[in-house]
Amino acid sequence: MTLSELESAKAGSLAEIAAAADAAAVEALRVKYVGRNGSIPALIKAMKDVPKEERPAFGKAVQAWRAEVESALAAKGAGASGAKAFDGDLSQPGRWRALGVKHPLTRVIEETARIFGHLGFTVADGPELENRFNNFTALNTPPHHPSQDRTDTFWFNDDCLLRTQTSPVQIRTMLANKPPVRVICPGRTFRRDTTDATHSANFHQIEGLYVDETATKPVSLADLKSVLAYFAREMMGDGVTVRFRPHFFPFTEPSVEVDFSCHVCKGKGCGVCKQSGWIEVAGAGMVDPRVFKHVGYDPEKYSGYAFGFGVERIAMIKYGIPDIRWLYENDLRFLRQLG
Ligand code: DAH
Repeated sequence: MTLSELESAKAGSLAEIAAAADAAAVEALRVKYVGRNGSIPALIKAMKDVPKEERPAFGKAVQAWRAEVESALAAKGAGASGAKAFDGDLSQPGRWRALGVKHPLTRVIEETARIFGHLGFTVADGPELENRFNNFTALNTPPHHPSQDRTDTFWFNDDCLLRTQTSPVQIRTMLANKPPVRVICPGRTFRRDTTDATHSANFHQIEGLYVDETATKPVSLADLKSVLAYFAREMMGDGVTVRFRPHFFPFTEPSVEVDFSCHVCKGKGCGVCKQSGWIEVAGAGMVDPRVFKHVGYDPEKYSGYAFGFGVERIAMIKYGIPDIRWLYENDLRFLRQLG
């Protein structure tokens, strides 16, 4: 098609549109000229056959034709038949799509990672299916210890179990890295507990481990206490303090249980803290030299602390949740209240 042929085709098309008597005729012309297989798209497709020098002028003319045909069709009401006109009430408020909320356990884990991140800790990971060495032996837990019982632990065979704690991630981390080590390890843990308001067979813990060279500065129980005190304030609010009570864990010496002062009554005594002013939240201590030996760290050269706490426990006291099972039911009425 030459330029002058194009101009007369254009004049013809515009005349046809102007003469169209009804919506069906307008639609037929729309299909004929600008529909998917219409003559204008066909011209655009055939553009590559136009001699190069003529292409810009020809292209411009085709585009102009298309624009004129489209506005002529629009003037005749093309497309209006199928499209529904807006009949809403613009004075009404908009509709909001409900936003999701983070699960309280996710929030506690993320908040913990943020707080310890400020202190230079990174997040380490380990599998839920563990071996006896990582979950017990390397953590200085003897074979006759009750936690190794078939009634306490989900064993698959003699060596393979669902981890009962996140402490095996300490072992994995030390086997894979040289000191200094500064990690927290959140994850799922499993015990053969019967479910009730405060127990679940599947719950979450966060482990912490800090190891450094003793010659540079021996890691001390005071370091552990100050770090946990910082964590307590950041997680539970200003004014919350920590106290240590002597305890026993196979993998730490000395070992302590860690209490937070009650964030509800500020330590005066209330229903939440059972009138004691304190809430037990974690186990902790100085890493036992026997644990260092199992991972090939020289106990003469290195010292460190470790701690572990239950995520459900922190979530329950932080948000005032009376029953652990609420955390697993995923009832949106409950989750939204905390969002
Ligand atoms: N693994 C212990 C438990 O599940 C908690 C714990 C106590 C972890 C003392 C530690 C620690 O790292 O030092 O009861």
